[in-house]
Amino acid sequence: MASVDPGNSTRSRGKAPRSNLVVRRCGLQQRLARRYATVTQQVTIGGLRLPFTRIADPDDMTRHMPAPDESLDEPQWQPYWAAHWDGSWAVSHVLAGESLVGRKVLDLGCGLGLTGAVAAAGGARVWMVDAAQPALLFARLNTWPWRDRVHIRRLDWRTDRLTPHRFDLIVGADIIYDTDDWPYLERFWRAHLSDGGHLLLGESGRRTGLLFPDWLGDRGWWVEATKIQVAQCDRPQRIIRARRGD
Ligand SMILES: C[S@@+](CC[C@H](N)C(=O)[O-])C[C@H]1O[C@@H](n2cnc3c(N)ncnc32)[C@H](O)[C@@H]1O
Repeated sequence: MASVDPGNSTRSRGKAPRSNLVVRRCGLQQRLARRYATVTQQVTIGGLRLPFTRIADPDDMTRHMPAPDESLDEPQWQPYWAAHWDGSWAVSHVLAGESLVGRKVLDLGCGLGLTGAVAAAGGARVWMVDAAQPALLFARLNTWPWRDRVHIRRLDWRTDRLTPHRFDLIVGADIIYDTDDWPYLERFWRAHLSDGGHLLLGESGRRTGLLFPDWLGDRGWWVEATKIQVAQCDRPQRIIRARRGD
């Protein structure tokens, strides 16, 4: 089990002059624009309004992704980070209604970073992690206004840990689609939830999302599943809250 080196953090350190920060932000934006067609939109979630940069046509990107090379002995991350998923709208709306000031929040499988940005905008100290490096550049850009309390790390939930960190809240939007990942996720959550901490998961309505609450309940967790309708999604989204029952 590898522990992620805090030195890999892409968080900015210390106070930089304002002009310097503008240059760094533009540099990040240009770096992304050189590789991807992007759009930036203002999104409204609860009482929050925030800029959000995403891939303009994630389906096109997915179509042109090379197939995973099975001969390589390294994690083969998938292009799912490039889309913005409905579960993340749902989790973001829930977060916007919570009292988060000073709380320690982990956005696991953060993708482009909307959920982490909403948590940071709400006053939380936020760790955003994903296995896909390009996602972390978007997450960094999308949390730029709150960068002093945002930590961004590359991490594989199957093999890595964020030792010694434990979190009041771990959020995950559309990360439980693959049943093979469930045992890894459950172990990761056990390792990283603080006493009294809880999980907040959003799920777009797959069959796996329907089965997951019972699966987790059978492993000693207290689980509550509800559905919410949010303006940005056509269908109601499943929200799962869970805490350790043992
Ligand atoms: C369906 S996307 C959801 C992204 C984002 N949470 C959202 O809702 O827009 C799943 C995310 O989990 C990440 N992921 C998949 N397997 C992972 C792993 N083993 N460790 C860390 N991240 C992983 C993917 O790179 C991707 O960003």
